[in-house]
Amino acid sequence: MSFKKRISLLSAAVALCYGAVQAAETGAQPWMNARLDAGERAGLAVAQMTLDEKLKLVYGYLGADMDNKKTKRPEEAYKQSAGFIYGVPRLGIPNLYETDAGLGVASQAGPDARAATALPSGLNTAATWDVKTAYEGGAMIGAEARGYGFNVVLAGGVNLMREPRNGRNFEYAGEDPLLAGKIVGAQIKGIQSNRVVSTLKHFALNDQETGRTTLNVKIGDQAARMSDLLALQIAREEGNPGAVMCSYNRLNGVHGCESSYLLNEVLKKDWGFKGWVMSDWGAVHSTVPAANAGLDQQSGMPFDLADYFGPPLKEAVLNGWVPQARLDDMVRRILHAMFEHGVVDHPVAPAVQSIDFKANAAVSVKDAQQGMVLLKNDAKLLPLNKSVKRVAVIGGYADRGVMAGGGSSLVYPAGGNAAPELTPKTWPGPVMIYPSSPLKAIQARLPGATVVYNDGKDAAAAAKLARDSDVVVLFATQWTGEGFDMPNLSLPDKQDELIAAVAAANARTVVVLETGGPVTMPWLPKVSSVLEAWYPGTGGGEAIAGVLFGEVNPSGHLPATFPAAESQLPRPALDGFPEVADRRFDVNYHEGAAVGYKWFDLKGLTPLFPFGHGLSYTDFALSDLSAGVKDGVLSASFTVKNVGKVAGKEVAQVYVAPVGARWEAPKRLVGFHKAEVAPGGAVKATISVDPRLLAMYDSASKTWRVAKGDYKVILAADASDKRAVSQVIKLEAAVYDVHGKPLRTSKR
Ligand code: GLC
Repeated sequence: MSFKKRISLLSAAVALCYGAVQAAETGAQPWMNARLDAGERAGLAVAQMTLDEKLKLVYGYLGADMDNKKTKRPEEAYKQSAGFIYGVPRLGIPNLYETDAGLGVASQAGPDARAATALPSGLNTAATWDVKTAYEGGAMIGAEARGYGFNVVLAGGVNLMREPRNGRNFEYAGEDPLLAGKIVGAQIKGIQSNRVVSTLKHFALNDQETGRTTLNVKIGDQAARMSDLLALQIAREEGNPGAVMCSYNRLNGVHGCESSYLLNEVLKKDWGFKGWVMSDWGAVHSTVPAANAGLDQQSGMPFDLADYFGPPLKEAVLNGWVPQARLDDMVRRILHAMFEHGVVDHPVAPAVQSIDFKANAAVSVKDAQQGMVLLKNDAKLLPLNKSVKRVAVIGGYADRGVMAGGGSSLVYPAGGNAAPELTPKTWPGPVMIYPSSPLKAIQARLPGATVVYNDGKDAAAAAKLARDSDVVVLFATQWTGEGFDMPNLSLPDKQDELIAAVAAANARTVVVLETGGPVTMPWLPKVSSVLEAWYPGTGGGEAIAGVLFGEVNPSGHLPATFPAAESQLPRPALDGFPEVADRRFDVNYHEGAAVGYKWFDLKGLTPLFPFGHGLSYTDFALSDLSAGVKDGVLSASFTVKNVGKVAGKEVAQVYVAPVGARWEAPKRLVGFHKAEVAPGGAVKATISVDPRLLAMYDSASKTWRVAKGDYKVILAADASDKRAVSQVIKLEAAVYDVHGKPLRTSKR
């Protein structure tokens, strides 16, 4: 064959291939062209859909049978799963398989719960003050979700801790918008690194469980934007979640899932959110108002009282009450997230994949150990000395395992519940004890000692054992969960009396708390050490023992203030408690944006333990603060020295307090850095400050406005640090858009 012939054949073949590729990309299904951007692909796909196909995508089912409503899950939905939405196979759009939630792959109650790895509580991860740990935990649970065939994880809860008695505090990240937003944003990013969608929730101001579906939160726009909404905004910016879940509560009289202010104005218009808004399960109350207010998908039928986004939505679109363009926008948003986060291009496997539970448990243990907070250790009883001969281990089901929180986020462990007899066994139960025994982990570390367990039910017997021991490790638990709040901040089941009796018998007592949030401690002066272990997750027993014996130096710092008493709270009595079903009541957030330590500062209150508090087995010194403004950005450099004898990690916190201007409270956290420092060593660090944290939000102009004047930059180890160092700097007046981007700096 002549050279010329060969060339012409070759060029014909190349043209053919290109044409085929082109056809694949622009022919039958152009939206499948991964080279196009998500928005373009979504638009192309929507244009091909029939009305009924669009309506399928905006209607979600509970992925479980509902006995009380005599309904069954769709057969395509995974058993005992949170949610399921039909895709459009004709167009290559997969079904959506939804799982809860922020602590791992949860299961609805029933005989076939998936065994999965549970992270420690969200408060524990927030207490690490380490976005890398938060990301790794998210990446792990996102991988397990994909391994089980889920492509939507309903994780990303970041409701601020306005109410320390809130039953769901364990799922969230504490009281400060910056810390909570950064931590949850990192978790969302980690989850979505597995090409699944994560879900920022609950949008918004769903900060207590009592009356959650009937209460009405009252708060102004400015205060909301500078507190709960700021936490959500930062988490969205950091994590770029594909979905947002609107909340049960009313806000200023309007339900979260039909609040045009929240959904259309704040989330979609102001913040530019391109993904979709799903309802919480049972949070939809209308068709036309909800659809036109910005709800894009009804979730979890039959949780709602009606099929709002079923036939009624079809009728509303056909008769024009819901514009066709609005329905198209709903579907486009769902598809945008599916294309953007890899759900279409990387479909989940139909069969369960192999999951490395051993490696995943190690991720959970590491998170737990980085987030446990050493609250007190005056006599340096911790770390425990391995030469000790007689150890009493008391209470907290420590012979069997560690506590987990209740509700939709509950992850069922391999090995099952170590205390199946506990009640309530049904929603919001079961009361789960993960089979990771602190007692066994302690015994394994003290082969030559006598380690005796007492369940703590009889305080006198426990005290007698304590008296006959060299050291006591007493575990105290507080079960919290979704759907209910704590009646007070006291430990339940007479544990305060137990601790007092044991400490009176032996002052060499270490109290390990497994709680869902802050608790009061009337016995605090009587005990030697207190370790807040939160809900420590799958390997919690090992995690706790590792810290008790100093294998890991504790480095957690409180993500929330521990009040000394309920009387210190903005609402000493919890509104609506105890719950009278279906009763509407107002919760007036008169504290505005002064949440947590900001409230304590504003009122001059002294908490039991301040926000940011956390001790170590070594000692640190913070020094060499140097703050300044460059190109309009405030930054602060400093040194963290380890002046003790063992390696450890310190959380350096930077606060700012206006000297002249008035904010909602005396100071705000504006930055933080967790530094690992060798004994005798020093680490330098620099943080930069988001201008929104130096500004007041102006509702009329939707801008963040920094007042000209003096500001005190404070370098501290907690919000009440007496050793804090500070420096006064000058800020020029400046205006930033709703995202915190500079608009103009006025020299006046
Ligand atoms: C629950 C929760 C929500 C959860 C959903 C699905 O009621 O409020 O956080 O993701 O329903 O279980």
